[in-house]
Amino acid sequence: MANPNRLISDVSQHLPFGEKRDTRFYGMNIVSVEQFDRDDLDTIFAVAREMRLMVERVGSFDLLKGKVLANLFYESSTRTSSSFAAAIQRLGGSVLQINNVTFSSVSKGEVLEDTIRTMESYSDAIVLRHPEEGSAAIAAGIANKPIINAGDGPGEHPTQALLDMFTILEELGHINGLTITMLGDLKYGRTVHSLARLLALFDVKLHFVAPDILRMPSTLVEQLKARGMLPCEHVNFAEVLPETDVLYVTRVQRERFEDPSMYERVKGSYVITPETMKSAKERMIVIHPLPRVDEISMQFDNDPRAAYFRQMEYGLYVRMALLALVLGKA
Ligand code: NCD
Repeated sequence: MANPNRLISDVSQHLPFGEKRDTRFYGMNIVSVEQFDRDDLDTIFAVAREMRLMVERVGSFDLLKGKVLANLFYESSTRTSSSFAAAIQRLGGSVLQINNVTFSSVSKGEVLEDTIRTMESYSDAIVLRHPEEGSAAIAAGIANKPIINAGDGPGEHPTQALLDMFTILEELGHINGLTITMLGDLKYGRTVHSLARLLALFDVKLHFVAPDILRMPSTLVEQLKARGMLPCEHVNFAEVLPETDVLYVTRVQRERFEDPSMYERVKGSYVITPETMKSAKERMIVIHPLPRVDEISMQFDNDPRAAYFRQMEYGLYVRMALLALVLGKA
């Protein structure tokens, strides 16, 4: 049987301990993917791989014993909220969960700043999801404890982009040289905003496929071009599917539409089915941050290229790695 103490000391080679302690991440806010370089990604993914081994061998261990994570969610969430909760608990810590702010003092008119000050009095780090772009940066500006952005409206979702990239690496073995197609709601989808920025650190070919009113924001396209990327924009995805190595499908973000008739016009614009996937490569992956609505047919779920359920599990290891690096004690 595996000896948990031995395994913990193996893991600690990559964690912020002793001689090898990597203090880069200690106490850090995670607000945008812009803060990471290639070295940071190598560290995060190396720790995530160790986390996977530990979970497979011993399930949970006491690396963050006594640490308390606050999960503060002003928008709905299944995966992000529960994977952070699972991550801190598998590391021996505990979670304060505020899922439904209508049952908190937010419904009495409390401002974000005061709620953040409250939650940081009780916890060691705060995971925040909020409908307004820039809210995570505001929270990080006033908090003394690390803030982890779990989605600021249509802005960014940095931990999702890290787990998306980890998924690509684990499934396909490399990032450089890949053709990556992002499909669906590229205007409001924060996950694609973060992932496209993170991919600018690599040499990839990017295709953006969206209905005209849901195109990738032009400011983001310009930023990518300024970094030497040449993303190609399309409306029709059949023309790029055959060369695609990673198809990143997104949901049309209904809750961000001011005019519901516009949502009705674009919902169901693209649907992935076993039939449409016939022209795709045999070795490629389809990923999706989830939840899906109708953009990937359930008939496709058993195809080996459907990696979106495996992606959720990779997310647990990446979030364990981030918590270990941000909260890890000497
Ligand atoms: C995404 C989000 O909240 O941005 N979900 C997630 O975190 N896994 C995508 C979405 O809601 O469509």
